[in-house]
Amino acid sequence: MTESKDQNRVVIFDTTLRDGEQSPGASMTLEEKLRIAEVLDELGVDIVEAGFPVASNGDFEAVREIAATLRNATVCGLARAHDSDIDRAGEALQSARRKRIHTFISTSPLHMKYKLRMAPDDVHAAVISSVRRARNYTDDVEWSPEDGSRSEHDFLCRCVEAAIDAGATTVNIPDTVGYAMPEEFGALITMLRNRVPNIDKAVISVHCHNDLGLAVANSLAAVAAGARQVECTINGLGERAGNAALEEIVMGLKTRKDLLPYETGVDTTQIMRASRLVSAVTGFVVQPNKAIVGANAFAHEAGIHQHGMLRHAQTYEIMDPADVGLTKSTLVMGKHSGRHAFRVKLKDLGLDVGEDALDDTFRRFKDLADKKKEIFDEDIVALVDDTVVRSNDRIQVVRLKVVCGTEGPQTAELTLRVDGTDRTTTATGDGPVDAIFRAIRELFPHEVRLQLYQVHGVTGGTDAQAEVTVRLEENGRTVNGQGADTDTLVASARAYVNALNKLMVKREKVVSALSA
Ligand code: KIV
Ligand code: ZN
Repeated sequence: MTESKDQNRVVIFDTTLRDGEQSPGASMTLEEKLRIAEVLDELGVDIVEAGFPVASNGDFEAVREIAATLRNATVCGLARAHDSDIDRAGEALQSARRKRIHTFISTSPLHMKYKLRMAPDDVHAAVISSVRRARNYTDDVEWSPEDGSRSEHDFLCRCVEAAIDAGATTVNIPDTVGYAMPEEFGALITMLRNRVPNIDKAVISVHCHNDLGLAVANSLAAVAAGARQVECTINGLGERAGNAALEEIVMGLKTRKDLLPYETGVDTTQIMRASRLVSAVTGFVVQPNKAIVGANAFAHEAGIHQHGMLRHAQTYEIMDPADVGLTKSTLVMGKHSGRHAFRVKLKDLGLDVGEDALDDTFRRFKDLADKKKEIFDEDIVALVDDTVVRSNDRIQVVRLKVVCGTEGPQTAELTLRVDGTDRTTTATGDGPVDAIFRAIRELFPHEVRLQLYQVHGVTGGTDAQAEVTVRLEENGRTVNGQGADTDTLVASARAYVNALNKLMVKREKVVSALSA
């Protein structure tokens, strides 16, 4: 059981793979989820919420694989207050070293009346029966009142007390719609601690959404008021404006120990690595001025700041960049470097790709070294992420030749490998990117809407690798694809094809959910 017995310890519950994945376009394949789960385990989070097993066969499989793989963290599966949800979660978690079932039901008047169409007394009864059922599978049961921050206090206290009596060891108070203000949310936790008679038998957790940009502030206010578990996601990924960002919670606690004297089990030097991976897998580029993990978070442009920094780093820097795993861009070996040196470099960067992926990544490193004089750590990270992102793609880009420039017509000659068979075509378009995307549609006919096309340079210089993000939409489902290459057009083709592969996985998920 994961429990915060030590009153100075804040349990970090990561829900990147569950609530984060619910973010439009952020869906991930099983392999991608597994890789993120392993990195979260190495990061030192206490609990990994791996998915919602009843939602689809894909979610079930992901939770099952993660449960069987993780060595340290408790693996958690989400379940509504339905027997079938709880049984499915119990089944998916069977082989976990440490397992938790997280069951929830709405308790606010609005949700009970319009979403659940249930009377409060029936909701109260469902709290008890769902927690009891979950206890058949594990001693570690978390219960959440969805829309908790907009629930009536008397009813909330009644439900929390009943959940703990029924066997919940953690009670999680969500600000589901990101409505609360820090002082108010802290007071809600104080109210529960004062009024629920058995509250000391459970860990109080909080789960805040960021609709008003207050998810982290609300979570920290709750910790100050006695909460000892925080639910959060890498890069603040999550529905709508996202969830509380793990890196901000953890660094807030580390940096302001004077006000919040609490420990977490997180190895903060792994934060950048986790952030980059989640960004690469989901295609959600981190905004440059994002706290902790944004490209500018530790950059000093103004002369007056630089002057102060040279005299004493703490004049303008409240955290050491090395504490979040930010190392100075260092030069990597050139094209003569061998496989052994490359493997050592990957290890230094904390990038453990298995033996199979190592061959592929090394070959791509050599190709890159032929094209690019200087290769930096960022290039290696982008390359590894790119290899991982597309390792199981059904459709792959084999060859691309583009004619562009002032004369036109802009033309793309493209070969794709689809389920092992090569297909080639030539298409023209309004510009080279349009020509490439048309060629892809000819080779693999599909109807989608292109919602986003975005390019950014991995490092400086005209020979930098371009990282391209493409967002596609089909019947209300959105996916993000990514591609990296020194050639922006090749990166564009890869990004589009990556998104297409994800869309197919999503279609399969829908079909399996319908037939489940
Ligand atoms: O935001 C929310 O209320 C949730 C619950 C399932 C905890 O994600
Ligand atoms: Zn949520």
